[in-house]
Amino acid sequence: MHLPWIDAINRLKRERGAMIMAHSYQSPEIFHGVADFTGDSLALAQAAADCDAGIIVLCGVHFMAESAKILAPDRTVLIPDLEAGCSLASSITADDVRALRAQHPGVPVVSYVNTSAAVKAVSDACCTSANAVQVVEAMGAGKVIFLPDRFLGAYVASQTDVELVLWNGACEVHEQFTAQQARHTRERFEAKLVAHPECPPDVLAEADFVGSTSAMGRWLEKEKPQRVALITECSMADNLKAQFPAIDFVKPCNLCPHMKRITLENIHACLLELKHEVHVPADVAADARRALERMLAVGR
Ligand code: 13P
Ligand code: SF4
Repeated sequence: MHLPWIDAINRLKRERGAMIMAHSYQSPEIFHGVADFTGDSLALAQAAADCDAGIIVLCGVHFMAESAKILAPDRTVLIPDLEAGCSLASSITADDVRALRAQHPGVPVVSYVNTSAAVKAVSDACCTSANAVQVVEAMGAGKVIFLPDRFLGAYVASQTDVELVLWNGACEVHEQFTAQQARHTRERFEAKLVAHPECPPDVLAEADFVGSTSAMGRWLEKEKPQRVALITECSMADNLKAQFPAIDFVKPCNLCPHMKRITLENIHACLLELKHEVHVPADVAADARRALERMLAVGR
């Protein structure tokens, strides 16, 4: 069923000189079938900054495509569905950030990459879940405004002496997991639990390992558990299964409805009609780029 689409996309991609980048939460037929580059939010931003293809097709959500455009301004950045949003990115505006700054004068702002370009533009630095603690500490301040994910913020606060001012955002996928479900999964399936720090704190307390999308893969590589439950977006287990065929993945399955708006059909249409191009106003892009580059300088 997928193969004709995969063949057509790969042909068109070569004709267009396009590079397809896919986040780890994309469906396996996209992740394994058509992507030239796959990874977490940080890896996608780094790849966009280094990319020399004329066209980038970002198979992920809108803030990821905006970040790619900001870091690769002379490339054409396309997203197959402009409506692929994110509950974290939509939880806060640039005016909210200005109000937080007014309430906490002189306190630097670190914003998760899961924010709009306008929010990044009024932040001092961006971070992802892979480098949040390092970026917060790199600010060299005793207090940092960290936004918008209250659960990632609480987790970062538990890993550093820096005091954090938090916002009330949450990921609609990870906030659904419960501690009871985690305990049940461990006991019923005798599985190790690996949780993303966007989950609520009582879920993280049940986990054998807490880590970002990329850190999860590294932990599996090192620990080689017989059976594992990834408490994160469902496609992660599908995509990692190919890399770790000997591991049995138990799937507490929450799908991100925004990530799942990207399909083989709309990737094909995207390449055929060169739509939907992502634009970021020049003044916003210049300031957002500064915050993103500060993150990239910290690295993982
Ligand atoms: P990372 O790719 O930074 O782990 O982010 C997880 C996520 O929810 C992306 O939308
Ligand atoms: Fe946003 Fe959560 Fe979906 Fe990631 S998984 S895009 S954080 S809603």
